[in-house]
Amino acid sequence: MDGMVAGFDVDLARFYALATLWQEDVTLIGADTVLAQEGALGGAARRGVREEGPLLAVVDGRGRVRSWEALAELGYWSGVLALYADQTPARPPDASTLELITGYDQVDLVEVLDVLGRRGVSTVRVDSADALLRACFELGLVDELALLVHPVIVGTGQRWCGDTKLELRHVGTEVFEDGVLWMRYCVAT
Ligand SMILES: NC(=O)c1ccc[n+]([C@@H]2O[C@H](COP(=O)([O-])OP(=O)(O)OC[C@H]3O[C@@H](n4cnc5c(N)ncnc54)[C@H](OP(=O)(O)O)[C@@H]3O)[C@@H](O)[C@H]2O)c1
Repeated sequence: MDGMVAGFDVDLARFYALATLWQEDVTLIGADTVLAQEGALGGAARRGVREEGPLLAVVDGRGRVRSWEALAELGYWSGVLALYADQTPARPPDASTLELITGYDQVDLVEVLDVLGRRGVSTVRVDSADALLRACFELGLVDELALLVHPVIVGTGQRWCGDTKLELRHVGTEVFEDGVLWMRYCVAT
């Protein structure tokens, strides 16, 4: 309840079930979120590409992600797209992941959304707890915010929100039996 993103138990099955509600065209995540799961990805079942699933777009401005094939075959996504910048280190010569290059030393998130929009994408779900989410807020790219608030005070750690002021309009709240709140807001414009 104090805004920390780690240090408590999370029902991941519930998280992923709720995440499907958006039926997004693109899931946008950052390299650090992928890197945090790389150990688990190695041993994860490879269910193959899910044709009707969203595209997974990974912001990887520093070219750190290597597990493209495992991500593509997890069974959630229809494909993966690496988002790079001009200054992203050269990829391995055998790299075959589809890529989009925007920005100079960082991926240009505004341009990414422009390009995706021109390709028919209308819903993008950002799955991030910190840096990428903050960048999207600061650039004014977020129009809806959904939070799972757990009944625990962690005390110290990484908080999901930065210091950008945001006016929010409450859309709905559901309370689960274990006291977790599912809170949805629109970002006022
Ligand atoms: N509790 C939750 O709900 C939740 C959800 C997701 C993740 N997580 C956890 O949170 C941790 C990762 O969070 P994180 O915030 O460190 O990583 P993140 O969400 O993966 O964000 C980092 C990514 O954002 C990019 N980025 C940051 N600012 C940017 C800007 N201004 N312009 C363009 N790109 C920008 C970085 O680019 P570069 O590639 O250039 O560095 C990097 O790829 C992991 O431990 C993960 O498991 C928790």
